Amino acid sequence: MRYGYFSDEEREYVINRPDTPLPWLNYLGTDSYFGIISNTAGGYSFYRDARLRRLTRYRYNNVPSDFGGRYLYLRDDASGAYWSPTWQPTQSELDHYECRHGLSYTRITSAYQGVRAETLYFVPLGETLEVWRLRVTNERTTPLDLSVFSSVEFCLWDALDDASNFQRNYSIGQVEVVDDVIYHKTEYRERRDHFAYFACSEPLAGFDTQRESFLGPYRGFDRPIVVEQGASNRSIAHGWAPHGSHHVKVSLAPGETREVIFVLGYWENPRDAKFDPPGSQTINKTLVRPVIDRWRRPEVVAEGFQQLRDYWSSLLSVVQVNTPDTDTDRMVNIWNPYQCLVTFNLSRSASGYESGIGRGMGFRDTTQDLLGFVHMVPERSRERLLDVAATQLPTGGAYHQYQPFTKRGNDGIGSGFNDDPLWLIMAVAAYLKETGDWSVLDEPVPYDNTPGTETPLYEHLQRSLKYTLDRLGPHGLPLIGRADWNDCLNLNCFSETPGEPFQTTANREGGVAESVFIAGLFVLAAKELAGIAQARSRPEEAAGYRAEAEKMTGAITEHAWDGAWVRRAYDYFGNLIGSSENDEGQIFIEPQGMCIMAGVGLEDGMATRALASVRERLATEHGIVLQQPAYSRYYVELGEISSYPPGYKENASVFCHTNPWIMVAEAMANHGDEAFHYYKLINPSAREAISEIHRCEPYVYAQTIAGKDAPTFGEAKNSWLTGTAAWNLVAISQWILGIRPDFDGLVVDPVLPSAWEGFTATRRFRGATYEITVRKPAGVRGRVDHLVVDGVRTEGNLIPPAPPGSTVRVEATIG
Ligand code: GLC
Ligand code: GLC
Repeated sequence: MRYGYFSDEEREYVINRPDTPLPWLNYLGTDSYFGIISNTAGGYSFYRDARLRRLTRYRYNNVPSDFGGRYLYLRDDASGAYWSPTWQPTQSELDHYECRHGLSYTRITSAYQGVRAETLYFVPLGETLEVWRLRVTNERTTPLDLSVFSSVEFCLWDALDDASNFQRNYSIGQVEVVDDVIYHKTEYRERRDHFAYFACSEPLAGFDTQRESFLGPYRGFDRPIVVEQGASNRSIAHGWAPHGSHHVKVSLAPGETREVIFVLGYWENPRDAKFDPPGSQTINKTLVRPVIDRWRRPEVVAEGFQQLRDYWSSLLSVVQVNTPDTDTDRMVNIWNPYQCLVTFNLSRSASGYESGIGRGMGFRDTTQDLLGFVHMVPERSRERLLDVAATQLPTGGAYHQYQPFTKRGNDGIGSGFNDDPLWLIMAVAAYLKETGDWSVLDEPVPYDNTPGTETPLYEHLQRSLKYTLDRLGPHGLPLIGRADWNDCLNLNCFSETPGEPFQTTANREGGVAESVFIAGLFVLAAKELAGIAQARSRPEEAAGYRAEAEKMTGAITEHAWDGAWVRRAYDYFGNLIGSSENDEGQIFIEPQGMCIMAGVGLEDGMATRALASVRERLATEHGIVLQQPAYSRYYVELGEISSYPPGYKENASVFCHTNPWIMVAEAMANHGDEAFHYYKLINPSAREAISEIHRCEPYVYAQTIAGKDAPTFGEAKNSWLTGTAAWNLVAISQWILGIRPDFDGLVVDPVLPSAWEGFTATRRFRGATYEITVRKPAGVRGRVDHLVVDGVRTEGNLIPPAPPGSTVRVEATIG
């Protein structure tokens, strides 16, 4: 069952009923001012940090769900009837409803009793504000006197404190209302130099800034007293809950349309110019006023919106494909890169499942996210890499997370997740392959952000590899530490205390828990670093890394091959995990994917056998589950993984991040049909038709889909902020379609489903544009053995970089 449809032309998902199974979200903002917005205008906004600079309130885990938002109320002043043109919060029976989620904007249109309303929400490029553009049309045959009320609930900045410290917070709220603009200035009188403002393009009939005055005692947002009565109270908040509401009266002749613009924004004043007049307690508005006045103008708004559209067209033009499969095209060309950019900007901070107050930027998350956006924003990727690397510890280890505001490692979480540092090598390699910017390796970067400790970035990579080599266990496999990629495989934790966090609690000393996943990742990273060393004319160093990769491959073959698949780990006591010897958790997805991606077993048949085991034991109609059999009870020696009921999260859900590793592995093993089959199973667009089962947004990936052991098999959860986005884009664009940047140029090496007869693609790469045509007779499998580049036959599949500005025609024939 569908709740809408894709408009590929407009790059929008069009939702045509408000009661989607879950709130279907979109994001506003591209740079420093962000918001989440649901299909019924729920959500909130913040400046840079979703916890520390929260502008508006949202109530997670509330009933009804999705509460707090960018709300409007329309009131027919003749009859007194009122409704929300975005359905929430009044939930009136609209005669027509449509929400279009586009790239960094959302437009909700509705009709009610002959009044049509369209509200466009977006954040203009380079601004720290959001625009709501309401267009109302009187579709009746009689004149209409309409009242428009706006409503936002201000957050007192620190979202965690705002939701808990009521003994203080009920007494600190402050606002100013000057020239019809509402200013929220809680704590501005003392240590803050920022405030929020809420303005409207029209003269006001009234306003309210105290929530209780707007709503009336014991009332909810579904029936504010002010809207019911049709008149604002001009309330000024002193403490309690500062609120922003404008009242605008609009008279519309039959057929007439009017535009009303609301601007909600964030502003920082210089410390020494906070007040006007100096010495007073009044906000100095001289700097912000021109900005407010500008964005109240319809032509400025129209132009700003067009600029946003152009920005996205330009970003997406880097990779555009035209394949026989619509789900592939729309994910690769539109939604998957969009989701990657959102994860780049938001990491794991703010979504329908991440409350914006919890997590910093994960070291491994950020470095993997980079794989999905480096081609679109190379300069920002460079900066991000240097930020992450600067949190690395002198040992080569890494803080598991860092804070986006301070860019410092997070002591609360600490380090010791032994896969973390290796991802830095993967990210830097991806950056170098995309950009050819070798100078990044010479950038001086400190350790633990400590001035004076700088070394070239290159040395950070060397130390990352050494970190693993310094921590090998009895089988020559890497010690796992707190956990590897699977945060819930906590083999040294032994937690028996309720509520104790598995990731941060004191670990038991003296164990020998080893990770085969890290072993695979090490092989891959060592080969990448060898490639980098080679390119930097350090052939001996490169040979050394290759030798280490060989040695680790040997350890995997000797100690981790279980006969039909690769084992997962050795536990604290040296017992096997992910082996046929185990009762539960006999086979895990991660080591199969990672080891094969690293090239382990591709030559001796191990890879093919392991992939067959994945197909037999892990693949389901909703994707590949993480392990089998699911853990049916808590195993203290395994940790959090066994804390989840079977079929959820790390305990045998389809953990979507891992599925593309198998897609890549299948492609490397020349299995185009299998790779693409797995790709389609979790492709959100391909799952649109079963939205009542999938339940999450059909335009973005979710972290998990409940596995076959769960009663809700097929139900997705934790959409939007997940490493799944980056890896799926890598799997489809670089391995299945096979257009892959490498150190020395662009590789074209598709591994296609046999039914396909080829595809075309445009790829911008290091300033040149490649027009690629791949041809293949239906039914044929195989790889390209030569390319025709601008009419000239080139052996192999690598195209050396062309001069910037040039257009290169590439033809590839398979079979
Ligand atoms: C979450 C974490 C990620 C981890 C994964 C598997 O997505 O953000 O770092 O690798 O779970 O546990
Ligand atoms: C929980 C989640 C896991 C995540 C970890 C760290 O354990 O199951 O996915 O990586 O928290 O936040």
